Amino acid sequence: MTILGIETSCDETSLALVRDGKEVIHEFTHSQYDTHRLFAGVVPEFASREHVKNIGILYKELVGEKTYDAIAVTQGPGLSGSLVVGNVFAKTLSLLQDVPIVGVHHVLAHMYAIQLSMDIEYPFGIILLSGGHSVVTLCTGPLECAVLGTSIDDSCGECFDKIAQYLGLDFPGGALLEKHAKRGNAEAFSFPIPLVQGKDFSFSFSGIKTAVVHQRKKFQQISECTSEDIAASFQAAVGKALKGIVDRIVERYGSIPIVFCGGVAANQYLREVLMERVSVPMPQYCTDNAAMIAGLGYHYVKSERFMRWDAPIFTRDETFKRFV
Ligand code: KG4
Ligand code: ZN
Repeated sequence: MTILGIETSCDETSLALVRDGKEVIHEFTHSQYDTHRLFAGVVPEFASREHVKNIGILYKELVGEKTYDAIAVTQGPGLSGSLVVGNVFAKTLSLLQDVPIVGVHHVLAHMYAIQLSMDIEYPFGIILLSGGHSVVTLCTGPLECAVLGTSIDDSCGECFDKIAQYLGLDFPGGALLEKHAKRGNAEAFSFPIPLVQGKDFSFSFSGIKTAVVHQRKKFQQISECTSEDIAASFQAAVGKALKGIVDRIVERYGSIPIVFCGGVAANQYLREVLMERVSVPMPQYCTDNAAMIAGLGYHYVKSERFMRWDAPIFTRDETFKRFV
């Protein structure tokens, strides 16, 4: 079964054709960095306009004469205007092509993305760090996960982006901070590890964010060397927190597989830190992409969770959070 995936939850317009939930036939993604760079952050109004401009072009390039059996669209969470573009496009195609449609949960799709890179059996532990979410879960199936812990304040991606901005880096912050950190000394500063004390699976990123800002203020005229050292030391502290979470998962659940996913998992340094014990999707399936939507969409179709015609988009939705 071939599924057309459509992802427009934020600033990426992405379309993909995926066979049987696993095999990516083709994917096209248009990133809106150039539009938002000027504002050092995503401007929702411009994001929607860019989706309108690009979604039809991507569809024509990707699909052409090819056919598909169902459509999977990101229903939420995300920016409302951006989601509306993808959802109206998907519903219109569904009517015209007479194929069923499913509305996919973006966060669950990030957790599914590993299945596009390798075969991995359920259950497995997940550390998902993105711009909107930082959660640790136990996944028992493509559509089922129980939350073990979350960030109690900022998300990890947000923290990367804010620190990049403080250091005067361009947009998008996360990836540029990683590049910057490559030239820095990771032991130059000792920042607080963004992990809640005890046996918990929770993160806290606001403390490290404040510590970095204070460190920066100490150096009125921040030299290139210092800012690179700050970036590297910050990344090292995040790496230590991730290792701490991995240890806690192993302590509680033994030898189950552990997966690191979401936009922050595109970070090469963090991938290497966790390499021994943790599986990570290919970088293009860590950041927002339509292949993960089509991949998980296959399981929605199989379990007959079709979208109703009057289904709304959702900008915030925490229903994936079933706590254990
Ligand atoms: O999953 P994602 O593409 O979108 C959301 O669902 O939020 O995640 C975006 C986040 C951004 O905060 C971005 O800065 C971060 O992922 N990110 C990175 C890297 N690439 C993207 N953070 C650290 N290192 C990277 N290489
Ligand atoms: Zn995402």
